[in-house]
Amino acid sequence: MRYGKTVTIAVCPGSFDPITFGHVDVVRRASHLFSEVIVAVAINHRKNYTFTLDERVELADAALADDAELRAAHAAGKIRVVAMDGLLAEFCRREGATAIIKGLRGSADFDDELAMALMNRHLSDIETVFLLGDPNLGHVGSSLVKDVARHGGTIDDLVPAPVARALAERCPGPRKDPL
Ligand code: PNS
Repeated sequence: MRYGKTVTIAVCPGSFDPITFGHVDVVRRASHLFSEVIVAVAINHRKNYTFTLDERVELADAALADDAELRAAHAAGKIRVVAMDGLLAEFCRREGATAIIKGLRGSADFDDELAMALMNRHLSDIETVFLLGDPNLGHVGSSLVKDVARHGGTIDDLVPAPVARALAERCPGPRKDPL
């Protein structure tokens, strides 16, 4: 409590391999609901990553800096991007967070998230708040974006510009040899 104003901290966790416009939308909307948002770039041991943890943090930072509103929130200390290892519930407790924020694109996301939300609440009483994803971005996920990039498709309208540049290097499309 500061001069009667409650500070609420939310954690947006994920692999962010790499961050997409879908993630950016969720971070933006979380920042409208909470006084501070921590984007926690984490390790999901079920995944093989395209980008290292440091690279995923760097790209998330660059993606937020690419958006005027989020750049200002970042500069004001309202949004932070951090690398997180270990248990999410423990991280939230250490940071004094009151909520975990997850975006849901549809029922498949909910099926994945339900057990995690219950486990996190079991571990530390932390609540998970689900935000419905923007329906215009319902098809946008890191894996599909990488697949499109590998096949030479356009990803500029799926990920922020710094991420599109990193993907062009890491997941180059097929070589277009002159005929
Ligand atoms: O973007 P992802 O891969 O779906 O994110 C999943 C992530 C990283 C948030 C989840 O695997 C996680 O919270 N990992 C940290 C370890 C942990 O707390 N595991 C128990 C969660 S129920």
